[in-house]
Amino acid sequence: MSKMHIKLTVNGRPVDALAEPRMLLIHFLREQLSLTGPHVGCDTSHCGACTVDFNGKSVKSCTMFVAQAQGGEVKTIEGVAAADGSLHPLQEAFREHHGLQCGFCTPGMIVRAYRLLQENPNPTEAEIRIGIAGNLCRCTGYQNIVKAIRAAAERMNTAKEAAA
Ligand code: FES
Ligand code: FES
Repeated sequence: MSKMHIKLTVNGRPVDALAEPRMLLIHFLREQLSLTGPHVGCDTSHCGACTVDFNGKSVKSCTMFVAQAQGGEVKTIEGVAAADGSLHPLQEAFREHHGLQCGFCTPGMIVRAYRLLQENPNPTEAEIRIGIAGNLCRCTGYQNIVKAIRAAAERMNTAKEAAA
């Protein structure tokens, strides 16, 4: 199949690459851009390990053709920390609250939580559980993931108040 020019922004950087339009976004990110944070856990839209932020929404990048991302903005786990390398409060909180074990689900989980906290900066535990329902973790039992997201929300809200 002939390749097409794909232009999009990934983690704040413009990307212009040739790819078959039928290529899945997850494969484009991992194989062509070497962004291996998002994982392939199932390939059936079930596990959420491939979750990225696309135009302000969480998407499972195994369900999208790269051609559908044309002109869009993608954020992967590689783009969540600050430019100076300091960790995002969600990354800090996952570390502090042991929100990961093997880490396979973690990039997708954190990128999803990132969008969840943009949509709802002060979620209850129940809202967090619903918010991450599309992301499966086979290790942690979710308890510490939920705790970490709650802790990150508190930290981010405190920082916002201090800056106001
Ligand atoms: S690899 Fe995309 S949802 Fe599992
Ligand atoms: S930490 Fe292993 S799948 Fe979530």
